[in-house]
Amino acid sequence: MKAILLTEAMNIEITDVTKPTAGEGEVIVKIAASSLNHRELWIQKGLYPGMKVPCILGADGAGTIVELGNNVNPTWKDKEVIIYPAYDWGTNEHAPSRQFRVLGMPDPGTMAEYIAVPTTNLVEKPKYLKWQEAAAIPVAGLTAWRALNRHGRIQKGDKVLITGIGGGVAQAGLALALAFGATVYVTSSSAEKIEYAKSIGAIGGVNYKDEDWHSQLKELSGGIDIVLDSSPSPVLDNYFRFMNYGGRIVTYGSTGAPKTTISISKFFLRHIQFIGTAMGSPLEFMALLQFMEKHNIQPLIDSQFSFKDGEKAFDALRTGNQIGKIVINHI
Ligand SMILES: NC(=O)c1ccc[n+]([C@@H]2O[C@H](COP(=O)([O-])OP(=O)(O)OC[C@H]3O[C@@H](n4cnc5c(N)ncnc54)[C@H](OP(=O)(O)O)[C@@H]3O)[C@@H](O)[C@H]2O)c1
Repeated sequence: MKAILLTEAMNIEITDVTKPTAGEGEVIVKIAASSLNHRELWIQKGLYPGMKVPCILGADGAGTIVELGNNVNPTWKDKEVIIYPAYDWGTNEHAPSRQFRVLGMPDPGTMAEYIAVPTTNLVEKPKYLKWQEAAAIPVAGLTAWRALNRHGRIQKGDKVLITGIGGGVAQAGLALALAFGATVYVTSSSAEKIEYAKSIGAIGGVNYKDEDWHSQLKELSGGIDIVLDSSPSPVLDNYFRFMNYGGRIVTYGSTGAPKTTISISKFFLRHIQFIGTAMGSPLEFMALLQFMEKHNIQPLIDSQFSFKDGEKAFDALRTGNQIGKIVINHI
């Protein structure tokens, strides 16, 4: 079968690999569409822990079950599914096990004609979603869901800031926060992206490249309860200019700066919580899909590429010009 293979750091090839077979409790899913995440760029740069090559890339995917392994209920055959994008979360909803890992390095990923996965990794695709939309959900949607719902404890009327609104997780967070009834503000390097966010329901936004963006945001919002953050500032104290007392900063990425500093006294006197998060559990994935179906949420797709043009999809991600998800069509 054809697959998008990372052969070594910085080198991906669309090449022939052996088709997987379904083990005990596993099925073979014929992938209809996959989507890209920033993670694949970190992996290509060799900046991801536990690098292993060659490896089929891709955490996000959706498709049809075409083969069943032993001890799989025959009702799974021909089902259209979305793949939960990780293994071994474990039984603790508060945090994953140490064995937790995302599909697509070191385990084979979704950017191939077929993937073998346990049925415990599968959720039936809600009928209202097209293949491309289904494939755009897993990593970004799940990360945003856990960050806002569990860690942010989002409620109707909360004021939420979403940083770097061009990103996949940020876009998913915007749609979810609006569906929760929150009042949403954004940051971006692009005035067009801020305008786009406003056109779908955000109240306003500021450019994170402006040195005084924290003060601008305070003026615009009056105060923020929850930050959904892919890029903490190098000096986190700047956030105290706009955070409400008791606010939650939920961080899922380090795009902006790998380190940050914080004034401890301001932090505790204002009852601020600074919370790290990564992806979410299988139960949260199911809850996310139910919430999305209830609120008829379609993920935002920036662009689509055919499988044979898969490498161009990575070029598009590298530019950072996208707003929403970049999808690869496999069929
Ligand atoms: N913890 C997890 O489970 C998890 C899951 C997914 C992603 N991540 C991480 O989260 C980050 C975003 O991932 P993604 O896949 O959503 O990314 P993406 O689709 O590649 O988007 C990246 C976005 O980051 C924004 N950005 C760049 N520099 C920034 C800065 N200095 N301050 C604020 N925003 C900045 C840009 O927004 P504008 O274009 O609007 O300027 C850009 O569009 C990555 O670091 C990724 O590794 C973590």
